[in-house]
Formats: sequence, C-alpha cells, structure tokens
Amino acid sequence: MTSLAELHDVARQRLAPEHYDYFAGGAGDEVALADNERSFRRLALLPRILPGSATRDLAVRLPGAEASMPVFVSPTAFHRLAHPDGELATARAVAAAGTVLIASMAATVAIGDIAAAAREVDPGATLWFQLYLQTDREVTDLLVRRAADAGCSALVVTVDSPVFGRHERDRQHGFTDLPDGLFAENMRDLPGGPRNIEMSPALSWADLDRLRESTSLPMLLKGVLHPEDAHLAVEHGMDGILVSNHGGRQLDAAPAPVDVLPRIVEVVGGRVPVLLDGGVRRGTDVAIALALGATAVGIGRPVLWGLAAAGESGVRQVLELLREEFDDALALCGGRRLADLTRDLVTVRGPEGG
Ligand code: FNR
Repeated sequence: MTSLAELHDVARQRLAPEHYDYFAGGAGDEVALADNERSFRRLALLPRILPGSATRDLAVRLPGAEASMPVFVSPTAFHRLAHPDGELATARAVAAAGTVLIASMAATVAIGDIAAAAREVDPGATLWFQLYLQTDREVTDLLVRRAADAGCSALVVTVDSPVFGRHERDRQHGFTDLPDGLFAENMRDLPGGPRNIEMSPALSWADLDRLRESTSLPMLLKGVLHPEDAHLAVEHGMDGILVSNHGGRQLDAAPAPVDVLPRIVEVVGGRVPVLLDGGVRRGTDVAIALALGATAVGIGRPVLWGLAAAGESGVRQVLELLREEFDDALALCGGRRLADLTRDLVTVRGPEGG
C-alpha cells in the first residue's frame, strides 16, 4: 500500500455497506466531515532549507505517555465490525508503533483485554481510556476504576456528545444495533446489568469537577472547539485538550478543528498540550497541525480502514505510512525536531489551491 487512501479503497470493498457507512458517515449533510479533510488543503507549508542534520527526532511527550511520533489513535467504537480481532489487533499494532491508543468506552473488547494485547507486544505500551460521562456516577466511577486497573495512563473525557449525532446513512440502512455476538464489552457487567452508553445534556462542568476529584489520572477533554471552553478546561484542571468535531459526526455546522486550532493554542498559552483530530490523512497534515501549535494529532477512520483491509498488519501500515510521510514532510520543511515546525511555516493557499 502506498497511501491511506488505498487502504480506504480496500476497506470499502471488504466491508458490508451498512458497516462501511457507519464508519465513514457523518452527521446531517456531512458538511463538517468533508471540511475536515478539505481544511488541510486550504493551507500550505512554507519550507525552510538547509537544516544541517541527517536525522530527525519525532518523539513527543504527552500526558502519561512517551510517543514515538506525534500521531496517536483517536477512540472509535466497534472495531470488531471492521475485523474479527477488533481492538486486540488495533492494540497490538499501536503498541508496535510505539504510540498511544485511546481505547473507546464503546469498544467491542473489554479494556483489560485490550491492555493485555498491547502489553504482549510491548510491556511499556501506552493506553488511554475514553469516557463519556454518565449520569449514573456509580457507572462512571466503575469505568474509571477498570481503566486504572488495566493500566491506562490517562482518561479522555468526550464532551461533544450531549445527544447522539444524526447519522442519516445509518438511518437509511436501518443500522441501529450491533450484530449478534458483538457487544460494547465495557458496558456489560455493570451494576443493574448490561447498559447502553448514555449521552446526556444534563451533564455540566460540575460533573467534570467531580470526576477530576475522583482520580489522580491525567485527564484530557475531547471535543473542544470554542476558545472559551479551552480556557475553562484548563481552569477545571484538565491536563490536555483535544480539539475535535468528532470526525464530523456530531454538530454538522461545526468548523474544522485545524481552523480553530490557532485561537485555542493562543488561549491555552502552553499551560497544557493541545491535541487535534479530524481529517488527518497525510504526513503533511500532521506537519501543518504541529506548526499551528498542536502537540500531536489523532486519526480515527484511517485506523478502521487499515483494520478492515488487513487486521493488525493494516493498522501497522497506516501508522508506518504516516510516520514516513511526516518524517519526509519535516525534512522537506527543513526541520530536525518537532519544535522546528513553527507558525510562520503555515500560509493560506490561493483561491485555486487544493
Ligand atoms: C468516532 N469517534 C469517537 N469519539 C469518541 O470519543 N468515542 C467514540 O466511541 C467514538 N466513536 C467513533 C466511531 C467512528 C466510526 C468514528 C469515525 C469516530 C470520533 C473519533 O474519536 C475522532 O474524533 C474522529 O474519528 C477523528 O476524525 P477522523 O480521523 O475520522 O477524520
């Protein structure tokens, strides 16, 4: 495979149409979904020359993690819809790449088993756990305990989903439930029996405060787009911010994350790392986001395409392609280390660009 786009094509052929559309789709007219990828093409990198170093250092420090490159895996649900090995395959591939997997609360493998798979490959593998705050505190607390017991080194609290996104492709297929035999395993043995993940607009910053006080794990807030919310996140003790519009699956009128990134970076002012996901498909996208102030970027769908195309090996290919492409981009920008990617390297393309 020579690009992520090629793996996407293979995945599209392999997956049942309703499962492909579940992964690929966005909310409403899919304006945000399309703009996430397009937003990177509106931007250009103004390269520097003659860096004077034959090698480059891609490693980055993140809350509770040392990653081999500034690309991590964002949480996505239901990996066993893409491949029978599901999150086990993803965890092995991400551990082999030496980067961070954010395991979804809606995984089809329990967090303890995901962690065990990662540690078989690398005892030092880093796993973070993504959580939707639940209105039942007991459930939230139990999930946090399990994540901690599994050795997760940070929590990622997703806050852009007070209600489920309106996914019209799923409605057209009548895709509402996982097929028999698949289950959101983290939700299985809870007090009161198996449950669905609940999303609620009744949750507030006070609920986040309570969670913050209940654990010493580093905590990142995922789904921040407004600069004022980024400021509040830091004030409320978050250890990082993940700028994201949920891959265009929630508010269809939301802006592309890379377009709001500079203002958020400005407001946060270096107090905590600012991460980003949405539409990252090339090493040059990674370079643009870093130059605009992101510490690292996440990928969602590309991992699902790798998984559907070739299981663990497909996810490895996705991560290695991005590593090679990003390393090339850094070299071509005259950089030796991540800090060489600075704001002055990013310009806006002319109207014909992209
Ligand atoms: C997601 N995303 C997501 N986010 C989250 O916090 N918890 C979750 O369970 C899921 N599930 C999920 C399923 C599928 C099929 C997709 C495509 C996305 C959002 C995800 O973490 C991330 O924000 C986006 O996927 C990033 O955009 P790209 O890389 O897919 O363009």
